[in-house]
Amino acid sequence: MRGVFVTGTGTEVGKTVVAAVIARMSAASGASVNVFKPAVSGLDDYPTVPLAGRVWSNAPRLPDHLLLMLAAESSQSEDEIAPYRFGPAVSPHLGAELAAAPIEPAKLLEAATEAGAGADLLVCEGVGGFLVPLADDYLVRDLARALELPIVIAAGPGLGTINHTLLTVEAVRSAGLEVLMVVLTPWPEVPGELELSNLRSIERLAAVPVKTLPTLDLTRPESWPRL
Ligand SMILES: Nc1ncnc2c1ncn2[C@@H]1O[C@H](COP(=O)(O)OP(=O)(O)O)[C@@H](O)[C@H]1O
Ligand SMILES: [Mg+2]
Repeated sequence: MRGVFVTGTGTEVGKTVVAAVIARMSAASGASVNVFKPAVSGLDDYPTVPLAGRVWSNAPRLPDHLLLMLAAESSQSEDEIAPYRFGPAVSPHLGAELAAAPIEPAKLLEAATEAGAGADLLVCEGVGGFLVPLADDYLVRDLARALELPIVIAAGPGLGTINHTLLTVEAVRSAGLEVLMVVLTPWPEVPGELELSNLRSIERLAAVPVKTLPTLDLTRPESWPRL
């Protein structure tokens, strides 16, 4: 399977944005791209009307799996992209518990493998950080390891990011996986000494390429940079 697995230093750190940019740039260069998100929660917080729309103006209000679908120009169904979807905004294993629908690792792996087999490239977005549980004894890490995809780490550019990023790099490498790059997002228009120093420190201490993404207009994918 060819593709990337986008993880992050935590939740709300830019994984979806980074995964969308990768999916978009690959699709724009002519590859067929499928996307995968092992579990989506918090669907109660999204308006229901735009959910069905593949319309860029809806992008900032779309849940992760639908934004990824749009970015990849994929024709997958919601079930194919995100087999487990929950209403409450809680971690996936709790969402599954509340819905009395436990996440089955074998089913997850099968769905991800199928998504990967259906296109030139699979862009998979994790849930939360790398060690977030999907089921009792099954973490995001275990899915990433089973898929054997290289890892992209999304992280914030500000204070605290060196520690969070290095911890994530270490966890990824101890799982035997390759860290392809770290992406600091959103990167300020005029970076200060702090952001520049963070970038250089991560590059040096983790020996990994560090890229940046400026603040994007999610409704205008044609304005997005390449990574
Ligand atoms: N480069 C960027 N441009 C615009 N918005 C960004 C960028 N990076 C992060 N964000 C914003 O930060 C928030 C968290 O990003 P998101 O990709 O949803 O994180 P995660 O998938 O890790 O939870 C979102 O509101 C997102 O729009
Ligand atoms: Mg996300």
